[in-house]
Order: sequence, then C-alpha cells, then structure tokens
Amino acid sequence: ERIPEVEELLKKMTLEEKIGQLNLLTPGGGVATGSVVSEGVEAKIKAGKVGGVFGVSSPAKVRQAQELAVKNSRLGIPLLIGSDVIHGYKTTYPIPLGLSASWDMDLIKEGAQMAAKEATADGINWNFSPMVDIARDPRWGRIAEGAGEDPYLGSQIAKAMVQGYQGEDLTQPHTMMATVKHMALYGAPEAGRDYNTVDMSRLKMFNEYLPPYKAAVDAGVGSVMTSFNDIDGIPASGNKWLLTDLLRDRWGFDGFVVSDYTSVNEMIAHGLGDLQAVSALAINAGLDMDMVGEGFLTTLKKSVEEGKVTEEQITKAARRILEAKHKIGLLDDPYLYSDESRPDKDILTEENRKLARKAATRSFVLLKKHNNTLPLAKDANIALIGPLANNKNNMLGTWAPTGNPQLSVPILEGLKNVAPNANITYAKGANISDDSTFAKKVNVFGQRIQIADESPETLLKEALDLAKSSDVVVAVVGEATEMSGEAASRTDITIPDSQKKLIRELAKTGKPVVLVLMSGRPLDISEEMALSVSILQIWHPGVEAGNAVGDVLFGDYNPSGKLTNSWPRSVGQVPIHYRMKTTGRPGPESGEFQKFKSNYLDSPNTPLLPFGYGLSYTTFEYSDVKASSKELNADGSIELSATVTNTGNYNGEEIVQLYIRDVVRSVTPPGKELKGFQKIALKKGESKTVTFTISPEDLKFYNYDIEYVYEPGEFEFFIAGSSDSEFDGTFTLKK
Ligand code: IFM
Repeated sequence: ERIPEVEELLKKMTLEEKIGQLNLLTPGGGVATGSVVSEGVEAKIKAGKVGGVFGVSSPAKVRQAQELAVKNSRLGIPLLIGSDVIHGYKTTYPIPLGLSASWDMDLIKEGAQMAAKEATADGINWNFSPMVDIARDPRWGRIAEGAGEDPYLGSQIAKAMVQGYQGEDLTQPHTMMATVKHMALYGAPEAGRDYNTVDMSRLKMFNEYLPPYKAAVDAGVGSVMTSFNDIDGIPASGNKWLLTDLLRDRWGFDGFVVSDYTSVNEMIAHGLGDLQAVSALAINAGLDMDMVGEGFLTTLKKSVEEGKVTEEQITKAARRILEAKHKIGLLDDPYLYSDESRPDKDILTEENRKLARKAATRSFVLLKKHNNTLPLAKDANIALIGPLANNKNNMLGTWAPTGNPQLSVPILEGLKNVAPNANITYAKGANISDDSTFAKKVNVFGQRIQIADESPETLLKEALDLAKSSDVVVAVVGEATEMSGEAASRTDITIPDSQKKLIRELAKTGKPVVLVLMSGRPLDISEEMALSVSILQIWHPGVEAGNAVGDVLFGDYNPSGKLTNSWPRSVGQVPIHYRMKTTGRPGPESGEFQKFKSNYLDSPNTPLLPFGYGLSYTTFEYSDVKASSKELNADGSIELSATVTNTGNYNGEEIVQLYIRDVVRSVTPPGKELKGFQKIALKKGESKTVTFTISPEDLKFYNYDIEYVYEPGEFEFFIAGSSDSEFDGTFTLKK
C-alpha cells in the first residue's frame, strides 16, 4: 500500500536526491568500528545527500542536524537518527547474552522499552538492535551480543526486543524503530574469527540460523541490517537470494535494509570488483541504505547512466527509506525527538536503575554450589578479592558506548550497600592479565585493563593474607569488557593465567571461596569447576552491577538464570550446542571412549555445562512427566506436563523446559529441540504442575526442499530444568 505523502515526495525528487536518501553517515565523535569516518557531513546534509546519520545525540544536536536537512536541503526531508542501543541507553543493563539467561520475555521487553524511552529522549529514532545471530562458538567475541545457541529461544527473544523498542505505535515519541541484525549467519564465522567466511547448507540455515531473523520480521521490525560475511559465495550486502528472494518474497518484509559499516565497500576486498561494481551489486540485490561507505552516493548515478542499475531500483529503495520516516512520524514532525525537557525526566531515573538491577539479578547463573557457602550472611567477615572486584571500568560490558562506566556500581560498593553490617575488606589479588601485549589490544576503546603495573607476587600475597583472616572469600574474576564483543575473538577461552593462579591459591587456603565470574562468552572453566569453590556467573551486569551481585550473594534474590549456550570442556569441542545430531555412529552414552564411534580420544562429547543449566540456592524435583494422550491429531493439540516441587530450603524460581525429539523424519533430526519453557516461582515445599500445549504447528521443520512441514510419526519428550535430561515420554503425531 502506497503512502500518498511519500509518493508526492518521490515525484519531486531528482535521481541525485533519491540516491541521497540511501546514504547513511556518521560524523564521528561516537565509536567508529571501521577505518572510515564520514567527512563533510554538514555540507552533504544541506545538499540533500544524506538520508540518516548515527553517532549524534542530545535533543539540541539532533535538532541542529534536522534543521540542516529541513531548512537547507531542497526538499527538507528529515533524517533518520540511528544509534547502537544494545543493552540499555544510559541505564546499561546486562549484555544481551546475560539477559538471555533470564529466559524472561517480559523482562527483556521491558528492558527494550526502557532503552527506547531513554534513547528517544536523547534524540534517537532508529536503533541498531536486536542482534539475533545464533552463535555456538565462544571464540567469537560477539557471542556476547546475542541470545545464545538456540533458534527457538532466540526467536522468542527477537520478538520481545522488537516489541519493546517499537511498541504498538512507532509515531509515539517513546518508541524507536528497531533493526534486526546481522542478516544473516554472522554468528557462524569459520574458526570463531570475526568477519570470517560462513559456508552453510540451506537446511542448516533454515532450521538453525534463520528463525530469529524471521521472528523479528514477523514481529514487524522496521529495518534489517546485513552482515559482513559470505553466504554461499556472495556477501550478504550483495546477496539477492538473501535480500530479495528470501527476505522480501518469501518472508514478506516491507521495511528497509541497511548495510553494516562499509560492508558494501568491503565486497571489493571480498573479491567482487570495484566500488561501482559492488555498489550496483548491492542495490540490485535489494540493499536500500549504504552505511558510511558512500559507494551508493558516488557511483549509482553513473551505473544508471550506463544501464547497470535502473532508476526504478533506486526509487524503490528511496521509497522504503521515506516510508520508514513516515512510520516513525518524522515526515509530520521532524523535531519529534528533540524535546529538551525529556533527558532529565527520562534518562537514568531511579526507576530505570531499579529495572537494570532487577535485570542483572535475573541474568546471573549459579554454576556450582559448594558446601552451602551461599547465600552469605549479612554480617559475614568477607575478603573481597580480584581485579574486577572494585573496578568501574568493566561493569557495563561490550557495546555500551552511550553508557558511562563511571556511573556504575562496583562490586565492593554494592556488597556494602546490601550488607552494611558485613565486614568487607578488599584486595586486587592479580592483574586482569599480566600480558601487556594482549592488554594493549583490549584497550582500544579505553583503559579497561591496567597494563600489568603491579607486581603479581605482591598482589597475590596481599590477597592471601586477607583471605586467611576472613570467614569467606569472594573472588571477582574473568574477562574485562573488551575481551569480548566485536573484533574480540579469542583462541583461548580460559580465564587469563594471572587470575587462574590467584584462584588456585585462594582455593588452597581452605576458606569457603565463591568465584563471581564475569565474561562476555562461555568460558572453559574446567579447572575451576573441579576446585572446592562455588561459582556465580554474572556476565557484564551493567550500571547496577555491584548492587545486583549483593542482592544475589546475600540471598535477597535467589539466582534463577540458565545458560543459553553450552559451555565446553575445552576449546577443542567448539562449535558445540545441545541440538547436535546423533550421527550414524553415536558416541557411547556412558561417555567411555569407543573406537569407531563418534567421540574423542581425550574428552567426552558432552559439554562441561549444558544449555539450559543453572542452579538455585534451593533444589527442584521433577515428577509425573506425562502426555495428555498417546496421540496427537493433525488438527488437534496435546498437553505435556510435569510436576515441579521445591525440595530445598529457600523460595526460588525455576525455568521449566520442554524438549522433544522427532524420532524418524525425512531429513536427519536434531538430537533434541527446545519447544517450550516457563519460568515459575515456588515457595519452599511448594509444588506446581506445568503444562505445555503442543500442536502439529510446533513440530514443523524445513525439509529437503525447504518446505516448512511436520511429518507424522513418533516423538519423544522430556520436561526438565536443563537440556541434558533423559527422554521420559512419547506421543504419536497422526496423519
Ligand atoms: O550496528 C553496528 C554493527 O553491529 C557493527 N558495525 C557497526 C554498526 C553501526 O555502529
């Protein structure tokens, strides 16, 4: 359906003006994630050569930018104002991988709503989030920005985030247009190296990697960002199959597609021709907007003159950009997001900080309990140790350029806030890393890691002395903020050596030890899991880090998070995930090595910690797992249920998970698939029955011909608190 206002504008536009709308620039000042920063932005806006900018914020600056366009360019078309609001705007909440561990769709949506309210108060109308790339390789640093390994959970989260950012009505000034990224398969680069080649079968794409992008499209996402990688030999930004056949024709997407940062130009390095050739390839493939590279701006007119691109193709793209501006209300009021009174009212409010604190507590995953050390008594004598224990610089996590690390609550302060009567003493204990070459690479965006300036021996001695005079040791260790995220791939996914040494020595003191572990990725913690310690995974928790850690360590909130990635025993197991197929020679269930089976000489197949895993201060037991019927009719549904009982000593929350296996089908099935989950609260001693209603629609998959179908036959299922349980029921799907 055409929008009259947009059509009127298009009629008045010259070819150059249409091309101008396809140009997205960043004047610098923000975080540049490529080697190019846009030049002469003001002059270009005035000349009608810019459709949007990013890296500009505050109502005053955004008003100025809009005035340049509205008052000076011939047609006065306002600008899209973009930003990377990935996990909160100024009230930073946990990194997306952390928040995904809450399995709490309402909370995730609320977080996105809050981010939208804050960002729009500061002039932003278009967000480069959610990132929904499925990732199963923790070497890849951007695993931190997604929702883990599973297409079903990833799809639910994609939907919740789009709904949260965009709300019901995009013209409302508290909502912003969302961008689902990075279409597609960006999370599966070979060897976990960022921007590396992806080569994947269509079957795997459709069943494992594409569902979250589709879920965002189905939820009405306004724009899609392409990825940097190859898809079947053609990078996403120039891939017509991806951007037109799949996205528009098959999925019915009617928003606009933006490239990633200079990803059009990068097709030159990929080996597909010069700037004119790759720009023509991109627009003909269905890309609408060119981020920073200016290939569209500088070559498309020539390509039209030479017959390589039609004016109609350019009109189509310009129409989509103008329609987006219409959708967010900019064509009616260019200054909708330039209200000077909003930042004070809407940004970093008490209420927002409260939500960030709640979100952080829900993201933590209790990985190991030892000797009932947790929760801690509020009057305990605590040695708080570790390079991340009193460190504001590393609480926010990756891609939080709009957050201010100095406003974050370090762990030491938070523990004191929550337990003012505890005796808490602090020692750094170790450098984040003693390797200064490594530290320099991590410090590109600021001084996240102190370059080993203190003697490891002195630090360790101080810490051990403190530990010996305490009742309990809390050691805050792990990765600094920029050790994960974009262009932060690692081949070694263990805790840095400097800190490993500290942990070993603390464990030897014989004191109860709690490791509070920070990271932006699953780590190999095989060594630490074998020590006599408790382990609480806290990711990078955001601006309320310390308070949230206090809430959980002292038992005001009983941890309930569950991992959304399998954590490997060693980097040699990756990529690893719970949906792996059985193969024709399944590894022995006992885990004992057998020759000529699919297994390793030096490791079990199973991960160290499975997808869906996470403990609580209390314990939960599952019983009475059953199906309401043995048979499911094609037009019917079936109820799969289990009784869950809180058998421990604390009230708590449990994430109840349903997995199925399609026993026989026309293409080999995954070993198991998540098909539902519910988060429930149970008082100690309490029981609840949890029911999942499953219909044939829920059992569909893409077959060899990429048709979305279900196939009659037997299904197995289990309902449990983690993916590593045994099947304990069956039902048959009838023809
Ligand atoms: O949105 C990001 C993207 O995720 C990575 N490259 C830069 C873009 C804009 O900042």
